[in-house]
Amino acid sequence: MLRLLKYQKYASVKTLVSVFKLTNRQRCFLSSSKSGEYIRRFILENTEIAGEHSLTPEVRLRIFTPRCRFWRERPELWPFDDPYWAIYWPGGQALSRYLLDHPGVCQGRSVLDLGSGCGASAIAAKLSGAAHVVANDIDSVAAVATLMNCELNGLEPLACVTDSIIGSEPHGFDLILLGDMFYDEALAASLHSWLDRCIKTHGTKVLIGDPGRAQFQEHGIRRFLHQLAQYELPESIREENYGLTCSSVWYYNPELTTGEDL
Ligand SMILES: C[S@@+](CC[C@H](N)C(=O)[O-])C[C@H]1O[C@@H](n2cnc3c(N)ncnc32)[C@H](O)[C@@H]1O
Repeated sequence: MLRLLKYQKYASVKTLVSVFKLTNRQRCFLSSSKSGEYIRRFILENTEIAGEHSLTPEVRLRIFTPRCRFWRERPELWPFDDPYWAIYWPGGQALSRYLLDHPGVCQGRSVLDLGSGCGASAIAAKLSGAAHVVANDIDSVAAVATLMNCELNGLEPLACVTDSIIGSEPHGFDLILLGDMFYDEALAASLHSWLDRCIKTHGTKVLIGDPGRAQFQEHGIRRFLHQLAQYELPESIREENYGLTCSSVWYYNPELTTGEDL
């Protein structure tokens, strides 16, 4: 975990071909191809089922724990892209807690979890009654982990998309979820303008989970956010996150001053 914080260079944006055309092909690749099977085995060997100490103990997740080799191992030995998915980030935890406690937010809706990591918020959305959920993460290992985590929680596989969709023509999602995605200035800037387009074109609702990271607090988007909930982080999560004590859920709408119409 300590080592993971060295992975602070994030992958660049890839070209979107078509979110929905890719979904079936990728799901097929992820679940049945040799490399999909190899990744699956690698994840099984290098993670543990955890989640019970998070804000959503009812969601079980295969992630890194202190007993896993790569919790402390040299990052360069990890054979895939940096394993951000192997942590359940405090922003995602708050977001998932909020969805599970307020199922009306997702009920019957089509939901995109952007930067889905281990898939926890996408899973929480599905468990809360969302009609259709897409988990989008540019790391294809995250997509395999998400499918494994769906199984762990008794869910059918969710649609997983591994191309970056930021900057693409907005799709008609009812709700976009962003857990801990404001850690990098360039990413935050491109996200901000793309979210505005999604809201203008489709009236999409946007929820953000963030534990008060500096990049988020200082970002221009903060002026247009309405705080929906704040959660105290469990002790072990605080320790893993260098003194962060709580995590919040925000509703983003550039033209709104309260979150009441969510
Ligand atoms: C800090 S983690 C948050 C994961 C999850 N939302 C959570 O809260 O546990 C950020 C995730 O965003 C993914 N990511 C980074 N840039 C992205 C992009 N342009 N599009 C989709 N995912 C991206 C990373 O691969 C990583 O899994």
